[in-house]
Amino acid sequence: MNRVAIKTYGCQMNLRDSEAVAALLRMRGYSIVEDESEADIVLLNTCSVRDQAEQKALGKAGYLVARKKRNPKFLVGIIGCMAQNRGSELLDQLPDLDLIVGTQKFHRVPEHLDAIIQSMNGLGPLGASVVDLEDEAGSQDTIRDHIPEAHPVSEFVSIMQGCNMHCSFCIVPKTRGKERSRPIESIVDEVVRLVENGVREVTLLGQIVTSYGKDILRPLDGKSPFVQLLEAIHRIPELERIRFTSPHPRGFKQDLIDAFGYLPKLGSYVHLPLQSGSDRILREMKRPYSVASYMDIVRGLKAAVPDLSISTDIIVGYPGETDEDFRQTEDAFTDVGFDMAYIFKYSPRSGTPSAEIADTVPEEVKEARNQILLDHLHRQSLDRNLAYVGTTQPVLVEGRAKRGENIFMGRNPSFRKVLFPATPDLMGKIVPVAITSATVTVIKGHVSCSHTLDCWPSKIHRS
Ligand code: SAH
Ligand code: F3S
Repeated sequence: MNRVAIKTYGCQMNLRDSEAVAALLRMRGYSIVEDESEADIVLLNTCSVRDQAEQKALGKAGYLVARKKRNPKFLVGIIGCMAQNRGSELLDQLPDLDLIVGTQKFHRVPEHLDAIIQSMNGLGPLGASVVDLEDEAGSQDTIRDHIPEAHPVSEFVSIMQGCNMHCSFCIVPKTRGKERSRPIESIVDEVVRLVENGVREVTLLGQIVTSYGKDILRPLDGKSPFVQLLEAIHRIPELERIRFTSPHPRGFKQDLIDAFGYLPKLGSYVHLPLQSGSDRILREMKRPYSVASYMDIVRGLKAAVPDLSISTDIIVGYPGETDEDFRQTEDAFTDVGFDMAYIFKYSPRSGTPSAEIADTVPEEVKEARNQILLDHLHRQSLDRNLAYVGTTQPVLVEGRAKRGENIFMGRNPSFRKVLFPATPDLMGKIVPVAITSATVTVIKGHVSCSHTLDCWPSKIHRS
């Protein structure tokens, strides 16, 4: 009665939350299973950012709840963003759901399951469904201890919860609440422990990481709390790389741009959500920057970091987006030369300001615009990858590739995926890989010498 499967929808933050829930459940004596057909309890950790993500999870929940007919002791819970967003209204649709837990209550999942199981076994009051959605002070500090099963090379670390911005299309402020940051010391402690367990790269997570710490810290020597945090983490020996997601362009002041110059562990990659290349649409979206000021940030970062790789988020088909607006987005997209992008078709989210205005752009037009950007992305990404052929890249070896015997996967400082033959002892090390071929999604090569110390770093050059 204690095998739990957790299925996660949506972003890295959700994956991280699921990992933490799994760790807490293991501590309480539950076992975590991959295969939901073997589970006694299935938890869906959900996403609300687009309607499609909610519909998928609802479909899945309906299918799982039907399993209770055969086995009344089988438990189904919805946790995370859709639980927060829809609350007990979910019970109108799925009255047999056992558990609905919001984004500030993940740490309560084990005790709720304990209570439900006890009552099912006649040991406690017979309960209806458990719904727990309240705000909880300090909940940003509850998702922390990793108890990794295997020891990964790269890990996610949650640094804050929530977002205080009001982007007109976005449900996140509703599902994740106000910005709440963890203290620097507590984050540093967590990263130190991860590094002791073999982690060499961390990705700092939050809905708007560039606003990190504004609720608990002041700027120091002209440096924002986020830059102070980056510096503190950068000092941890043996940690090789630091990434973060998701930032906001308004957080890229000179202090952060400079940090890319003097903190080499940041590598040569940044995610910088643009959303639209039309100033008019950006204003409608309540995004507080112009295309020109976005381009200034890009120029500043490119000057600080040669070979910078930039990824972005774009929404096509925002209400009122004209052909001309979209043409401007296309121009910005090719001008910056993004080599990674998440392109979304606008999806009205009830409860957001833009859901109040008509969703005017027809689905076929959204689809066509989406495809045009994907074609640009394909070309830009391929060009970028082909340019690595003939170079030697410093690659952090993460683990075995999904396919191919003795093929390993790692990433270069620009976050490009690199595949190469290797042996498990190289995991967690940075090795020089001579790149011999490229596709849109990966670059491939071979380790250019096995004794990393002998040849490192003198052979890193363009041949
Ligand atoms: N800063 C957040 C953003 C969350 S949403 C984070 O990454 O944690 C991620 C992306 O989804 C946004 O940048 C936006 O491009 C897209 N998105 C958000 N709401 C959307 C909507 N209603 N329709 C389509 N795309 C949306
Ligand atoms: Fe959403 Fe805008 Fe915050 S996209 S997460 S409201 S910065």
